[in-house]
Amino acid sequence: MDTTTAAASGHFLLGGDLRVNRLGFGAMRLALGGSARTREAGVAVLRRAVELGVNHIDTAGFYGFGDLHAHELIREALSPYPDDLVIATKVGPLLEGGVVPTGQARPDQLRGLVEDDLRRLGRDHLDLVYLRVGGMGPAGGEPIGERFAVLAELRREGLIRHLGVSNVDAAQLAEARSIAPVAAVQNHFHVHHTGDRDVLATCEREGIAYVPYFPLGGGPQRIDHARLADVAARHGATTAQIALAWLLATSPVTLPIPGTGSLDHLTENVGAAAIRLTDGDLAELG
Ligand SMILES: NC(=O)c1ccc[n+]([C@@H]2O[C@H](COP(=O)([O-])OP(=O)(O)OC[C@H]3O[C@@H](n4cnc5c(N)ncnc54)[C@H](OP(=O)(O)O)[C@@H]3O)[C@@H](O)[C@H]2O)c1
Repeated sequence: MDTTTAAASGHFLLGGDLRVNRLGFGAMRLALGGSARTREAGVAVLRRAVELGVNHIDTAGFYGFGDLHAHELIREALSPYPDDLVIATKVGPLLEGGVVPTGQARPDQLRGLVEDDLRRLGRDHLDLVYLRVGGMGPAGGEPIGERFAVLAELRREGLIRHLGVSNVDAAQLAEARSIAPVAAVQNHFHVHHTGDRDVLATCEREGIAYVPYFPLGGGPQRIDHARLADVAARHGATTAQIALAWLLATSPVTLPIPGTGSLDHLTENVGAAAIRLTDGDLAELG
């Protein structure tokens, strides 16, 4: 059987030196509200993702519920890690005993969070660490320099290879870049949520990876199938695949990280790597 791999999406040099296939994987759903409800299912999805050429996996220490924790699933499934695997993590939100983050780490708490990620992932350094800013509302409105400077110091010490920022507006991205190089921005963006084009344009200009979170809208039921269906029919594809192909076509710096706990959906999502949308498709999708 001819199975598409993530390599068909092309590659990107994260931070100028970590080569990843553009189509990656988001691990949040393996631990929080996804269809993989057991450790075995999460481990199987992660192993299959890597077999399918995925070498950029997004996680966070705060992706956990009950005995399912994204970091621990990744370690169980993939350690010892392949040399070309890039694991990105995020620090900032604090769980404070719950499942949904309710607080933000103070600058003096960030080192401990990074050390926790190192320990739970079983690594001696982290490839990419984002400062995740704010709640689930729109980005912007708070200074991030003091916290980002702590991560910059950890990078100088060698605990972190590259830095990113997540859920930021243009001003916060500029503030971070005035302190240390930013290799990646992870913001809310998909085919029906495109208000972040100014930040995306900065990323394109500066060679920064743009990692759109909720690439399927956080669940395909939240993306408008009617607008995707015609294009999907022309390509013999699913609407989820077209939503991912749209992200890949929108800019050379986008690195989608769709999340799934389903082996079938994983294969389908990686299959989007080979879909080439035409100018007509892109115009139709808006
Ligand atoms: N920085 C941030 O603030 C932030 C916020 C949210 C998420 N993230 C990151 O972004 C990643 C992706 O976000 P996400 O997983 O929440 O949203 P998503 O990728 O937009 O959508 C995932 C949802 O879609 C379903 N799905 C996946 N592939 C499908 C397919 N081919 N057909 C039908 N349904 C499909 C999944 O359910 P099944 O399991 O049934 O497939 C899951 O419910 C996360 O894993 C996380 O790493 C970051």
